Amino acid sequence: MDVVKPIIEEEITKKLDITRLSSNGLIDSFWIADFGCSTGLNSFLAMHVITEAIQNKFQSQRSIINAESPEFYVFFNDHVKNDFNTLFRSLPPERHYQAAGLPGSFHKRLLPKASLHFAYSSWALHWLSQVPNAVTDPTSQAWNKGNIYYGGARQEVCDAYSSQYAKDIESFLKARANELVSGGLMALLVPGFPIKFDYSGPFYKGQMVMDHIASILIDMAKKGRISEEKIDSFNFPTYYTFPEELKAIIERNGSYSIERMEIFDNPGKYAITTAHAHASVYRAVFEDLMTNHFGSEIVDEVFDSYRQKLEASSALLLPEKDKSIIIFVLLKRKLE
Ligand SMILES: C[S@@+](CC[C@H](N)C(=O)[O-])C[C@H]1O[C@@H](n2cnc3c(N)ncnc32)[C@H](O)[C@@H]1O
Repeated sequence: MDVVKPIIEEEITKKLDITRLSSNGLIDSFWIADFGCSTGLNSFLAMHVITEAIQNKFQSQRSIINAESPEFYVFFNDHVKNDFNTLFRSLPPERHYQAAGLPGSFHKRLLPKASLHFAYSSWALHWLSQVPNAVTDPTSQAWNKGNIYYGGARQEVCDAYSSQYAKDIESFLKARANELVSGGLMALLVPGFPIKFDYSGPFYKGQMVMDHIASILIDMAKKGRISEEKIDSFNFPTYYTFPEELKAIIERNGSYSIERMEIFDNPGKYAITTAHAHASVYRAVFEDLMTNHFGSEIVDEVFDSYRQKLEASSALLLPEKDKSIIIFVLLKRKLE
C-alpha cells in the first residue's frame, strides 16, 4: 500500500465518476470490500487511504452533486477460518467507516448484485482455489511426482497450474463483475514475476521458498521420516503470474476496462532480512497446509531445517535473488 498509495489516490481523483455510480446520481452509502484481508493490519491502512481519497473526491464535487459525503461500509473478506476476532478487536478507532465481516471464498459471489462501489485485493490472488487435479493424478501427464509445486517441474505441470490460475481469476472477476455497480472501481495488487518464467529451466530453480521446502521434504523421505507417496500427493496451491498473462485473463473476461496497470518491485523482499524472520514468515503462511497433509510432527523440523539452510548460505537471503514483483491493476466495471 505504501508503494501504490499515490497511484490509488490519483486514480480515485481522476477515474471515480461519482455521478454515475447510482441511477439517481446520489449515494447514501458507499460500499468497499477488501478480498483476502487476513487479520487486518495491512488492510486498515489500505481502507484508510481509499476512504480518505473518496471523501476528498466527494468534497471536491460538492457543488456538482449537491450532497454530503456518503457513509462508508467496509466489508472485510477472507476464508471462514480467518481470525476475524483479531481483526475486529484491532479496528482503528478513528476510522471513517462501519466495518463488517464477509466470510467465504472470494472465488464465489459474496455480495448482492450491483451493490459494491470499490473492490480491493492485495497479495491474495496468488492463492488457487485448489491444487490442479492433474498434478496429483498418477495417470496424468501432469503428475508432479517428487515435487511440491511447479518450480523446476515439467511443462505439463506448469500448464496445469497456469490453467487453474486462469480459471480462478476468471471466477473472481465474474463474481466481482456481478457485485460491482457500473462504473465501480477495483484495485488489485497481485504478486507475480515480470516475465513468463521458464519454470522448468535452471535459471528458475532455487527462486522460491518452495524449492527449499521441497528439498527438505525429499531429504526427510530419504531418511524414512515421511513417505515418498506423501510428497507425491502434496502440492502448494499458489501461483505467481506475469503481467501479460493477467492482462489476457482480464481482457477475456470482458466486464472491465483496464484503467492502469503497472509493475513495482516487491518491497517485502527488503523487509525480511534474517534467516529466522524468513523461516517464521513462511511457517505462518504454510504451516496449516503442511500440518493438514503431513501432520504436525514434522513442521518444527521442516522450518528449523529451512532456517539452517538460509543461515548456512546467506546468499539465499539476498533480495536480488528474489525476482518477484507486485502487479498493480486498476479496473473499471464497464457500463451495462
Ligand atoms: C498474504 S495474505 C494478504 C493479506 C492482506 N491482504 C495484505 O495485503 O497483507 C493472503 C490472504 O488471502 C486469503 N485468501 C486466500 N485465498 C482466499 C479465498 N479464496 N477467499 C478469501 N480469502 C482468501 C488468505 O486466507 C490470507 O489471509
